[in-house]
Amino acid sequence: MSIPKTILVVGATGTQGGSTVKALLASPQLPADAQILALTRNTSSPKAKALAALDSRVLLHTGDPTAPGAIFNTAPGHIDAVFCVTVHGPAGAEETQAEGLFDASVAHNVSHFVFTSADRGGETVSDMNETSVPHIATKYRIEKYIREKAQGTNTAWTFLRPVTFFDNLTNDFNGKGFSSMWQGVGQKPVQMVATSDIGFFAAKALLAPDEWSGKSIGIAGDELNFEQAKKVFKDTLGSEMPHTFGIVGTLVKTVLGDIGSMFKWFEKDGFNVDIQKARSIHPGLMTFAAWLEKESQFEKVEKLEKTPSDKLEKTSSGKCECGSRFCSKCKK
Ligand SMILES: NC(=O)c1ccc[n+]([C@@H]2O[C@H](COP(=O)([O-])OP(=O)(O)OC[C@H]3O[C@@H](n4cnc5c(N)ncnc54)[C@H](OP(=O)(O)O)[C@@H]3O)[C@@H](O)[C@H]2O)c1
Repeated sequence: MSIPKTILVVGATGTQGGSTVKALLASPQLPADAQILALTRNTSSPKAKALAALDSRVLLHTGDPTAPGAIFNTAPGHIDAVFCVTVHGPAGAEETQAEGLFDASVAHNVSHFVFTSADRGGETVSDMNETSVPHIATKYRIEKYIREKAQGTNTAWTFLRPVTFFDNLTNDFNGKGFSSMWQGVGQKPVQMVATSDIGFFAAKALLAPDEWSGKSIGIAGDELNFEQAKKVFKDTLGSEMPHTFGIVGTLVKTVLGDIGSMFKWFEKDGFNVDIQKARSIHPGLMTFAAWLEKESQFEKVEKLEKTPSDKLEKTSSGKCECGSRFCSKCKK
């Protein structure tokens, strides 16, 4: 398979699709004459306009994954590769979005279909484990469909299997609800990833189809329980990680049945991505601390430069190593 010239990016105005467009543009492998068809239902939305302003290789393409025929019929030329993300909806909605688009991709001789799915317990387990979480089980069924339907066609597939996004931790009520649900998981760490890193893997797979076709890639950058996350937050930004009463997390879990079932799944089973393996492919894969510093909405409240005197500790005499009982430098 050659490097694709025309790449359709579904959900381009959204989180994973937007990260994929940016990572494609940042890659030296993207041909100078490439076309990134950024699929959107509304080309005049601010997000769509911002996307088009990034680079002349980004072309807004009107369409909806649930009407895949029109996407291909109105494309400016042959589509070589597709990045596919699905959005939540009523039962069967995600299957409709991805499977119809995959069938149309086969019919239009697309060489490579990259589907962003979700990890279900590590590389091998994910192939067999549907899980009890409705929006994760849909990803299992879509992967199975694509695997079966791709046989004997010219369309190869790659599955990206990310874990929970750091980006859910926003500086608003939603972010507080998220961290409270995280707290409810207890001691068990939750694997997480920056969505910009998902874009990195998507671009890598799209631009090296021979290397990645037929493979599933687990993507996680860190694993922390709530208490560990709180400490990293404080150490990195100098303020407390926003969260609300545990009862709010419990309520949110109940109201958001599907998301709630995922947090319950985290308590017993959960993701199991090989983070070391992912980092060997992408050494810049962000930890929670790196994401907080580089991409989160949270500001650092003070400069936390450590001076050598900060490292002095109290001795058994109760005095600091510097000799003082009340050392302001050592903050004792
Ligand atoms: N959040 C997490 O922690 C997490 C972790 C792993 C996997 N996931 C999976 O990630 C997927 C969502 O990806 P994402 O966050 O990148 O999506 P997103 O940001 O919500 O973006 C979806 C884009 O799709 C378009 N769209 C088309 N039909 C839509 C519809 N009916 N409703 C809403 N938007 C529609 C919208 O673009 P236009 O309006 O421009 O058309 C929107 O910008 C879900 O399947 C979820 O299970 C999430």
